[in-house]
Amino acid sequence: MGDMQQNSPIGQENDSLQPRLEVSIVGGGIIGVITALGLLHRGMHVTIYERVEKFEEVGAAIAFTGVARECMQRLNPSVLEALARVGRSSPHERQRYWDGFHPRTKESAMQEESSLLFDVPEGDLAYWACLRSHFLNGMVGLLPEGTVQFGKQVVNYTEGGGSDKVVLHFADGTTAGADVVIGCDGIHSATRKLLLGKGHPASNPTYTHKTFFRALVPFPGALAALGADKANDCCIHVGPDAHVISFPTNDGKMYNIFIATHDPQEWSDPYTMTAMSTREELSSALQSWGPHIAEIIGLLPENIIKYGAFDMAENPAPTYASGRVCVAGDAAHASSPFHGAGACMGVEDALVLAELLGHVQSLPVSARPRCLSAALQTYSAVRIERTQWLVQSSRDICDIYQWRYHGTGEDSAKCKAEFDWRGKKIGHFDVDAMVAESRTEYEKLAASAVH
Ligand SMILES: Cc1cc2nc3c(=O)[nH]c(=O)nc-3n(C[C@H](O)[C@H](O)[C@H](O)COP(=O)(O)OP(=O)(O)OC[C@H]3O[C@@H](n4cnc5c(N)ncnc54)[C@H](O)[C@@H]3O)c2cc1C
Ligand SMILES: *[C@@H]1O[C@H](CO)[C@@H](O)[C@H](O)[C@H]1NC(C)=O
Repeated sequence: MGDMQQNSPIGQENDSLQPRLEVSIVGGGIIGVITALGLLHRGMHVTIYERVEKFEEVGAAIAFTGVARECMQRLNPSVLEALARVGRSSPHERQRYWDGFHPRTKESAMQEESSLLFDVPEGDLAYWACLRSHFLNGMVGLLPEGTVQFGKQVVNYTEGGGSDKVVLHFADGTTAGADVVIGCDGIHSATRKLLLGKGHPASNPTYTHKTFFRALVPFPGALAALGADKANDCCIHVGPDAHVISFPTNDGKMYNIFIATHDPQEWSDPYTMTAMSTREELSSALQSWGPHIAEIIGLLPENIIKYGAFDMAENPAPTYASGRVCVAGDAAHASSPFHGAGACMGVEDALVLAELLGHVQSLPVSARPRCLSAALQTYSAVRIERTQWLVQSSRDICDIYQWRYHGTGEDSAKCKAEFDWRGKKIGHFDVDAMVAESRTEYEKLAASAVH
């Protein structure tokens, strides 16, 4: 394992003679904090600048693949330990895909012969799920005192001009310098806008024409609605222009419901990606569906938030790095939520950055500025294809669920084949090869920068 600083305690102390690399991270979301822990583990000096006044993660669930967990282990074993304290592997052996549309009676909706389309074993993705806030809080507890500065909204950065620092400018008029800046400031990333230049098309995410709704309801209602066989398993109901994913959670006490619908309309305001909606609105949109969908909708509260799914598929960023500034996580490649793997991509980004910056830190100070930009260019080149594939595939997978994808339509065998290969691409990924490739590419680039 590429553990560069064995047994190095997480801390801002420095026991080597080389000055530490100073890294500024913009944004204290899951990816900003994971990246910070990976860099601290390699002995760098890290400051996170977060816009709001405290860490804010919602109580919703998030799941990480086996690949993301392998990256966490290599970033900093404490990250994986923090996940292991709050995460659970899926208790469901398989996911069953049901026709949510055609069955006309509760009996036929319940029967495998009449409405089960296919099932897939849980194996490939090996997800561990947890509550976002639990995981983030656990990681925050690992950060040394003083790592995070709250109430610091980045509005600009300046690089060069005779200084070998990149200087962040905050909304409160203050500034802070560092050797390198990593923007982990999410889908509306200010760092991305500044990096790509004013008015670049990839500055703003666009509407995917999908809305989604989520709710956590008491399990007994789901049991009464769906029967024990369906309610105890993970059910994916598919059909025309919508899909419903539901499963028991919280040790079988609660039932998690996710409903996504196609929306041909425009979304009014991309900066508020949510709108108030009602159970009535959803039930009339899905009124021609089968009885189990009506039952699931019946479990929702009367007033419910409608989320607009935004992403960067239409305007992908041409690069994730410029000079000594880069973007990672959603700031680089915000995706719609339909693969449930957006954060996993950010964890993979963090590992590449940590490994490359760890190498730069081992160089003499005079060689660092030049090698930093080679390291960030390498990071961008190594990560761009896979992460942008995920953004596009997340759109595709939603269309496949919703019988809108050109190559599959309502054909279950074809849909299953799509789910299979896409799941394997996410879940069977060679982390060693990614790290090795970034090292080789970096060495080539750094050598050509010297001559
Ligand atoms: C419904 C849903 C379900 C999902 N499920 C999964 C899942 O199961 N598995 C998975 O892998 N992914 C999932 N995702 C995707 C995942 O949530 C995101 O990829 C992940 O949260 C991105 O984290 P981030 O740290 O990059 O960005 P964010 O979480 O958006 O954090 C950005 C941070 O930057 C701060 N910030 C913003 N601007 C500035 C500024 N100018 N200056 C300073 N600070 C700033 C913000 O306040 C925030 O704290 C899901 C997404 C959704 C919507
Ligand atoms: C950022 O700072 C540079 C250099 O001072 C300036 O030219 C630019 O207009 C600033 N950009 C923004 C968005 O404030």
